[in-house]
Amino acid sequence: MPMAKTETTETTETTCTLCEGTGWTLIEEEGVELVRRCECAEGRTRQRLLEQAGIPARYRHCTLDSFELWNPEDPTLAKTLRAVQEFVDLYPADDKGLLLMGSVGTGKTHLAVAALQQIMREKTPPVRGRFADFTALVLEIQMTFDGSGSSRDILRPLIEADLLVLDELGAGKTTPWVMDLLYYLVNTRYLEGRVTLFTTNFSDFARGQTESLTDRVSARIRSRLYEMCRRLELRGRDYRAERLASREGGLHL
Ligand SMILES: Nc1ncnc2c1ncn2[C@@H]1O[C@H](COP(=O)(O)OP(=O)(O)OP(=O)(O)O)[C@@H](O)[C@H]1O
Ligand SMILES: [Mg+2]
Ligand SMILES: [Zn+2]
Repeated sequence: MPMAKTETTETTETTCTLCEGTGWTLIEEEGVELVRRCECAEGRTRQRLLEQAGIPARYRHCTLDSFELWNPEDPTLAKTLRAVQEFVDLYPADDKGLLLMGSVGTGKTHLAVAALQQIMREKTPPVRGRFADFTALVLEIQMTFDGSGSSRDILRPLIEADLLVLDELGAGKTTPWVMDLLYYLVNTRYLEGRVTLFTTNFSDFARGQTESLTDRVSARIRSRLYEMCRRLELRGRDYRAERLASREGGLHL
């Protein structure tokens, strides 16, 4: 007879046996009784931080394990994956973040989100991580121009996050006023030694009509990135076009 489905639900909802739901446990250390935060409370904190991190649904499935070395002609896949894995392993010991560069669909956001999620799930104490899309951030800041909201309120959680993914750096249309605020975000994290993972479609060299990253975000931001980040370049082809388009059902969440 198949097992009743309710059983699994019941087991996940039972009260923690270590602390009986209080979130605190008594432990004995060298004959002294100490009160400690229970493991289950840490689990709840992690869950809350992950929910607040702003990771787009489309990228929640991304892990380093699911990053395929699908193109044998592209050595940058393995090299970049190894560097991101090393970043995760060392976190928070190394104060350098990553600057993932490459053209569309090469896996930059996948790797950045995978690193962010693995660190938020595994590291103790729990890490306050955040994901922000550059274009969306620029729009949000621009909407505060009429005084309806405060750009500081938008930037504060991004400035204060232990680990920030700033995706698509340099994308979209910016104004000098918005660039000043973005400089303030990057520079404050730089001054505070907070770690940031950047992704960008722009390279350090302008090609034809395409501007360079410096053209897009100003020399003073680009210059700080040299110090804040290790530069990783994905030089391969578009995974979306070559792998996802042919898959049944097309893009997956
Ligand atoms: N090597 C890979 N293994 C598995 N999935 C991959 C790989 N590369 C990319 N993908 C998947 O392909 C899609 C596109 O990748 P991703 O969004 O990371 O590209 P990107 O470099 O950030 O592109 P863009 O510059 O357009 O933002 C995602 O669904 C991602 O999970
Ligand atoms: Mg991307
Ligand atoms: Zn407990």
